[in-house]
Amino acid sequence: MTTPSTTALWLVGARGSVATTAAVGALAVGAGLAARTGLVGDAPELAPAGLPDLDRFVLAGSDIGGVALPKRAALLAEDGVIPAHLPAVLADALAEVEARIRPGIAPGHGAAAEQVRRVRDDLVDLQQRTGVERVVVVNVASTEPPVADDPAHASWPALRRALEAGEDVLPPSALYALAAFEAGASFVDFTPSAGARLPAVAQRAEEAGLPWAGSDGKTGETLVKAALAPMFTTRQLRVRSWAGVNLLGGGDGATLADPSAGLSKTRSKSRGLQAALGYPVDAPVHIDNVPDLGEWKTAWDHISFEGFLGTRMTMQFTWQGCDSALAAPLVLDLARLTARAHERGFSGPLGALGFFFKDPAGSGEHRLPQQWDALVAFAADLGAGQLGAGR
Ligand SMILES: NC(=O)c1ccc[n+]([C@@H]2O[C@H](COP(=O)([O-])OP(=O)(O)OC[C@H]3O[C@@H](n4cnc5c(N)ncnc54)[C@H](O)[C@@H]3O)[C@@H](O)[C@H]2O)c1
Repeated sequence: MTTPSTTALWLVGARGSVATTAAVGALAVGAGLAARTGLVGDAPELAPAGLPDLDRFVLAGSDIGGVALPKRAALLAEDGVIPAHLPAVLADALAEVEARIRPGIAPGHGAAAEQVRRVRDDLVDLQQRTGVERVVVVNVASTEPPVADDPAHASWPALRRALEAGEDVLPPSALYALAAFEAGASFVDFTPSAGARLPAVAQRAEEAGLPWAGSDGKTGETLVKAALAPMFTTRQLRVRSWAGVNLLGGGDGATLADPSAGLSKTRSKSRGLQAALGYPVDAPVHIDNVPDLGEWKTAWDHISFEGFLGTRMTMQFTWQGCDSALAAPLVLDLARLTARAHERGFSGPLGALGFFFKDPAGSGEHRLPQQWDALVAFAADLGAGQLGAGR
């Protein structure tokens, strides 16, 4: 007898590199066909949380284009992002997920309120058809430019009035977040886009008693920064400057080549360092699109610091990562943790998930060891069954 699935994971940007790698990973690991390396949720310290395993998830999502999931998986295998044999082995399962991918929210295609209703209905319909107990929406769509301030963003009543008046005041990421909350789903933003961070959208989550988490998965250079910055502070070495250069390709590289989308990313990458160090520091971040690199990303960081008697020194590191292979397990970890928080009745921004994010919502903590401690404490709360609010 099979165990019933309890959660649907709805991926926004379902045919992108990160989403496809996450889908292949969930299906392969869930079926015992691949190792679980890289899944933070498997750490013994998080065992008290009682996280749902990957075979308990039904995968679905939305996208505004892209090639069908089985084909996208084959392309990722050709690039060496996922094992070469998996697309063929998982062909039927990937085709089933593809059949559950719905058209996404495209800017300028219909009134915003109508788009929210459509996605809300898709989420409710999926839940009813599959019998899952809850839905977690995870945004892994292309990064959007920063949003301009609008009075409608300030509160949920103001936003509701603007949407009812037919005004187009939200970017797609925020419309997806709103649709999730309207459908009783929880929401995770793995991108630096606005998502649920606009006060009006966050208020809607509070009103509905639903948890959400964000923003911008911490997978590479920023992860290393969050680990190294506390070393400098505890060793009483003063960082003078910290410059980072990022070379990346793939769909993300092409998106971030647009200066306005790139600005969302560089802002998100820059936010944590000052908080982690405890003092302001000159820390320019630069991103270049190099299509030849495909799914691989190189980051080079140059850290200038001073020690005893003001003696100046430098540290440099080079990080070469396969972006989607780093991001996908974190997407699955976030889905498992948010599903469990949703089940336990937590609501509001899950600041304790800051370990996973460059720009954590609901927490000002950017030091990796402290973020880990907060995550372990959260896992204990999830397991203890305490009903949380705004944790
Ligand atoms: N890979 C990493 O390490 C990492 C880390 C942090 C954040 N991210 C973020 O994850 C996101 C996805 O990255 P990727 O490499 O998979 O990019 P990608 O370009 O391969 O995929 C993005 C997908 O989003 C879809 N999309 C665009 N607008 C949409 C909309 N309005 N509705 C639904 N779908 C839409 C595109 O059609 C595409 O299929 C990016 O925003 C990226 O910044 C990635």
